[in-house]
Amino acid sequence: MNGPSIRMRRLREHPVLAETVREVSLEPRQMMLPLFVIPGTGERRPIHSLYGVDHWSADRLPEIVEPALESGIRSFLLFGLPSRKDPLGTTASDDSEPVQQSLRFLKEKYGRDIHLTTDVCMCEYTDHGHCGFVTKDGTVDNDSSAGELGRIALSHARAGADMVAPSAMMDGQVAAIRRVLDNGGFPTLPVMSYSSKFSSAFYGPFRDAAGSTPSFGDRRTYQMASTNWKEALRESLLDEEEGADILMVKPALLYMDVLARLRDATLLPLACYLVSGEYMMLRHAIAAGALDERRGLMEAHFALRRAGADLIITYAAVEMARLITGR
Ligand code: PBG
Repeated sequence: MNGPSIRMRRLREHPVLAETVREVSLEPRQMMLPLFVIPGTGERRPIHSLYGVDHWSADRLPEIVEPALESGIRSFLLFGLPSRKDPLGTTASDDSEPVQQSLRFLKEKYGRDIHLTTDVCMCEYTDHGHCGFVTKDGTVDNDSSAGELGRIALSHARAGADMVAPSAMMDGQVAAIRRVLDNGGFPTLPVMSYSSKFSSAFYGPFRDAAGSTPSFGDRRTYQMASTNWKEALRESLLDEEEGADILMVKPALLYMDVLARLRDATLLPLACYLVSGEYMMLRHAIAAGALDERRGLMEAHFALRRAGADLIITYAAVEMARLITGR
């Protein structure tokens, strides 16, 4: 008999066996849905830069949270657009602003049936759009900003957050937040660090949605250069030392090499963020007829699981959950 004696196709022949040997799976529990909350009541406004994503006032959040819960998505990541912005981003830790208000509302309504993580950063709250305090010479001051992130995290914790996720890329921010939470009575509240966060053109649609494009300069003095994977591992491992409970690689699809290497370098759970520009790249390809929606979305999300992600933050969480479970 001619031909190879080892035939890889044997395992692919029967669909049941092919499923049996499938190496990764994706379940709704492994995805987190970002939510954008705005001031006021009765508001639902489509975000034009982000397909299928809306701005919600706190009182209308059940309209998105309930279908998500039905699909199996129970984890949410809250971003807020404040009632006003100033140079110091004072609204970020203000108890009457949308994030804090939404936390109280959702926790009151759903209790421990949902898990709420908050993005801890200043860029949505400062009028200059940077992620920290800007000094006279136009640079972002690290240590005072890290301290402020601690105060913001504490205000989220007090309003009911189940986890905080610092995304400002200030050195020492995880340690600073940990200290404030521990001293403030929240020693068991976990920190998910945006630990390897790159300076990326793929945040474009998000910045439209959050109104957080810097008015001068860019984020390259604090976010990472896209060229540097070793530095990215150092960033994440440092956050582990500072007490982070979950590490994150962001963006996700373009940085899967970093995710896979980080998987080998740490025992902590790993998150990745399929960011707005990556999501819209898929959406535009689908809209143009260049990509099959179901297969394209599945493949992108499965790839992240294969690379080592325990948790995927994705704007397609509900759709993915429905695709997987058939609900
Ligand atoms: C910062 C933050 C950003 C994103 C999440 N948190 C924007 C930035 O760093 O400019 C981007 C998310 C996305 O693009 O989907 N608060």
